[in-house]
Amino acid sequence: MNAAVRAAVRMGLSHGWDMLGVRRGYAGLIAGNMTSLGYRDVGGIIQQGGTFLGSSRCPEMKTEVGRGKAIDSMSCRSIDALIIVGGNGSQTGAHALSEMGAPIIGIGSTIDNDLIGADMTIGVDTALNIALEAIDRLKVTASSHHRAFLVEVMGRECGYLALIAGITGGAEAVVLPGRPLDPDRLASHLHSCYERGKRHALVVVAEGAKWNAGRLASHFKKHHSRLGFDLRLTILGHVQRGGSPDSFDRLLASRLGAAAVERLAAGSEGVVLGLLGGRIAATPLSDVAGRVKPLDPELIELAEVLAK
Ligand code: F6P
Repeated sequence: MNAAVRAAVRMGLSHGWDMLGVRRGYAGLIAGNMTSLGYRDVGGIIQQGGTFLGSSRCPEMKTEVGRGKAIDSMSCRSIDALIIVGGNGSQTGAHALSEMGAPIIGIGSTIDNDLIGADMTIGVDTALNIALEAIDRLKVTASSHHRAFLVEVMGRECGYLALIAGITGGAEAVVLPGRPLDPDRLASHLHSCYERGKRHALVVVAEGAKWNAGRLASHFKKHHSRLGFDLRLTILGHVQRGGSPDSFDRLLASRLGAAAVERLAAGSEGVVLGLLGGRIAATPLSDVAGRVKPLDPELIELAEVLAK
């Protein structure tokens, strides 16, 4: 997100605009917590994860009163347009403000990669690489000790991180939200891996799956499923976030931040910018708000074939 803010600020300044940074997302917008940003204020942040402006979950934005305060705060500071960097919740809020007449351009940023209008959102590639590094390390222990590992990754109800981490981490199975799973069949699959002489078995589990890693582990324990392998459980959780963004994310965020200003300058608003087919594309906020992008069935099939 820092790279996107940096690019938007510098592009805006180059147009001669005054640029303000809103602290702590919608909570800061409602409270009027903003700061003027110059070229140097966004220096030295491109390599930092997270956002130097701060972020927040803001339940008030889900209320009419909260949204009214956000609009008031914009007019109080004579704000002509907002660039909102974030995932589904943020873009749903952006859509609501846009419906109230605020000129807005959204930028897709979430590690979940579940936003309509973007093949890849800001943060996904970095989070995936962090998950993958952890998986590669867990495999070392798994192989040395003949173990099966359940590794749970973030991603809410989407499962994109789990799917791609599973394919690229060489998992023996991937457990996804919204897909039927029989835990006893999974146990048999792991057992067959054991019988075939595999030294380890890795199962990547999406946090939003009905059978999340904790549930699966206790099912295996309670029902004394014979896996062959000893079982261990690792929940990666928030360590997947906050890493230094990789070059893909820095470039993507820089392109999107700059494009948001260019599009506003050209009179566009009410859209979310995202990478589609390698190009920066604009999708109406109304098509994005409150919806999630489904997983690509071809990738699900690939994961299943490669897990054999
Ligand atoms: O939406 C991004 C995400 O990291 C999800 O993958 C995860 O479920 C959630 O945020 C965690 O949210 P919080 O940091 O508020 O616990």
